[in-house]
Amino acid sequence: MRILITILLSYLIGCFSSAYFLGKISKNIDIRNYGSGNAGATNALRVLGKKVGALTFALDILKGVIAVLIGKYMFGFNGSLLAGIFVVLGHDFPIFLGFKGGKGVATSFGVLLILNWKAGLICLLVAASIIIFTKYVSLGSIAASISAPVAMVLTLDSVNKYLYITTWVLAALSVYRHKANILRLCRGEENKLGNNI
Ligand code: G3P
Repeated sequence: MRILITILLSYLIGCFSSAYFLGKISKNIDIRNYGSGNAGATNALRVLGKKVGALTFALDILKGVIAVLIGKYMFGFNGSLLAGIFVVLGHDFPIFLGFKGGKGVATSFGVLLILNWKAGLICLLVAASIIIFTKYVSLGSIAASISAPVAMVLTLDSVNKYLYITTWVLAALSVYRHKANILRLCRGEENKLGNNI
């Protein structure tokens, strides 16, 4: 029973789409009809401005943090891993918004920070360097997501099998959600930061 509650609760926490609600509150728009159409921090920055973008980023990270802490409290270490996956699933596929949500990067970062903050910081560093160097947020996000399992191995003496699988699941989800960005990157058509973001 506790495990079902953990899964449901973390999914529902993920479903709270910060970008969507802040879009409604600040400009009375559905952010999914603007910019890249993504309900995430980058598109919030693009469409709603710096302050709202930063707030979206912070709230999305917080969702991951809260869900993992609840999962840990409810069901121990494995509960935190399940919560980490389901909060991102909720963010990416929110039931209340027709399953059209975000790409899960900030929320996965929040999850990672609690599971292993050192790995989280490595991913942040990877994302920041690539974004600064290339100006492609999506490329930085994808690289950071794939770096997570590697960062786990680098920062832990022995990596728990389920923790390792969880980071790969989150990485795979992120790559899947970035498929349109990947196509645009290949065609050289992806938006650059600072250039209409
Ligand atoms: O985390 C999302 C980011 O990597 C890409 O966002 O809006 O440019 O598709 P967007």
